[in-house]
Amino acid sequence: MASSATISLVTGANKGIGFEICRQLGRLGHTVLLGSRDKIRGEHAAQQLCNEGLDVRTVRVGATEPDTFTKLYDFIAQDYGHLDILINNAGIGLDWELTADSVPLQMIRDTFETNFFSVIALTQILLPLLRKSIAGRIVNQSSILGSLTLHATPGSKLEGVKPLAYNASKAALNAFTIHLAAALKDTPIKVNSAHPGSVLTDMNPEGHLTVEEGAKTAVQLATLPPDGPTGGFFHLGKSLPW
Ligand SMILES: NC(=O)c1ccc[n+]([C@@H]2O[C@H](COP(=O)([O-])OP(=O)(O)OC[C@H]3O[C@@H](n4cnc5c(N)ncnc54)[C@H](OP(=O)(O)O)[C@@H]3O)[C@@H](O)[C@H]2O)c1
Repeated sequence: MASSATISLVTGANKGIGFEICRQLGRLGHTVLLGSRDKIRGEHAAQQLCNEGLDVRTVRVGATEPDTFTKLYDFIAQDYGHLDILINNAGIGLDWELTADSVPLQMIRDTFETNFFSVIALTQILLPLLRKSIAGRIVNQSSILGSLTLHATPGSKLEGVKPLAYNASKAALNAFTIHLAAALKDTPIKVNSAHPGSVLTDMNPEGHLTVEEGAKTAVQLATLPPDGPTGGFFHLGKSLPW
């Protein structure tokens, strides 16, 4: 069944910034697919937004469960025929207290599995549906902590914030943004990385922004006009150093 509504998918959306992105896209009139690895948590979150009058359905997507990606492709293809917006928001941070001289290799692998490899896998599987959109948008939820330029700059605000697994996974995610944008340069699809800011969530108990503020950058990049940028890294419209 084809649909004329804007169809948006957000991963890791049962809570935190992803949940609020769903709310803001829902308020724009989108049909929102709220991704959650846990069925019950996803249903609970989607119900909350439906109660606010928004068009939200939950879909199962587990970053380490590739079978959920193909099932999701089948579901979207059958029910909507295309996908307009993919926001790769799901993410983990495991090594906040560790440094590069001691972080276990397995922790780096686990972090990359969710923050990097799964994003590529899911995006590649869903690309045929995004190619059917008249204005496909892909947003990779990155972090300023992935900025190699700032990490390498003495005295920058990232001095002393050096969890290798998380930071390197976001730098790699930014590389995916640049390379995918290049691969899709002759299509209407735009691919950008977002930094939400330091947002108070379960992942970041010391964050100083609200999720409402934190969701704005991804929503802006998901709704870019045809002459908007692609292959960039942004926070609230401002370009960030790679
Ligand atoms: N908060 C910040 O200050 C900040 C700053 C920069 C970037 N970010 C990025 O923003 C994104 C959202 O973070 P947040 O602060 O909202 O964190 P959060 O509240 O911890 O939410 C993370 C979301 O990702 C999901 N997730 C984790 N592992 C998953 C997996 N294997 N498969 C599917 N979903 C999985 C979580 O699901 P469960 O509930 O099932 O665990 C949850 O829905 C992340 O990519 C993060 O790196 C956050």
